[in-house]
Amino acid sequence: MNVTNEEMVDFHTHILPGMDDGAKDAEESKKMLQMLVQQGVHTVCLTPHFYPYKETLEAFLNRREQAFSQIQPYAAEMGLRFVLASETFFNDYLFHSEDISPLCMKGSDGRSYLLTEMPFDSHFSDHTVSRISRLIDIYGVNPVLAHIERYPKLVNNKKLIDRLIDMGCLMQINLSVFEKGFFLKKRILSYIAKNMVHVVGTDSHNTEKRPPKYSEGISVIQKSLGEDAVNQLSRNAQQITGLCQEKFAIWGLHEMN
Ligand SMILES: [Fe+2]
Repeated sequence: MNVTNEEMVDFHTHILPGMDDGAKDAEESKKMLQMLVQQGVHTVCLTPHFYPYKETLEAFLNRREQAFSQIQPYAAEMGLRFVLASETFFNDYLFHSEDISPLCMKGSDGRSYLLTEMPFDSHFSDHTVSRISRLIDIYGVNPVLAHIERYPKLVNNKKLIDRLIDMGCLMQINLSVFEKGFFLKKRILSYIAKNMVHVVGTDSHNTEKRPPKYSEGISVIQKSLGEDAVNQLSRNAQQITGLCQEKFAIWGLHEMN
């Protein structure tokens, strides 16, 4: 299967207006979406922050629905596909919810994928890993750990990443990582080559300070690892976001029962 630009997915954005520290209004959302379209993106995952200790799931979903209604018409106007989801902060309050499926993306494989933000000071201790395991067991979700490059205790520990993938986690990076230091960039590229990074996103928040910069990072991957690596990332994202009807394995994600 050849992946064209039409199938590129931005897996992580804060484009929904007025939801969090992302786009402040629908006008800014539109500009951000236009920037993504210009870079060949076809599917935009809308992943506003959800902090379970700050508001109830119901309140969050109501706010998300209202924000979404403001930009929904842009999908048809711009030829985009939206995937409504969340970036959910991992905290014990999350376990108070009975059903977290509205926070998740529904994959073509029937699985639910939860973009999960760990606390920035997380040490990824055995205790934390067991709580992640509990999340998987209780809700039957596959956590997609957001911007793994931001967590030194995780990104510098290949064995830990392997262990989390074995448990059913997936790994997401922000494409801005390739603007950072040489060693981090090299490490992330090696993880992509080993199928230990599964999806990429801009984590864009606005048009200026944290804009949707997609194609530059994709070019780095393409130049360093070739077209196949970009295609695999695209296929993973299509499967997780339910675009792909064809079922295939996400590299690095082991079959779960
Ligand atoms: Fe984010």
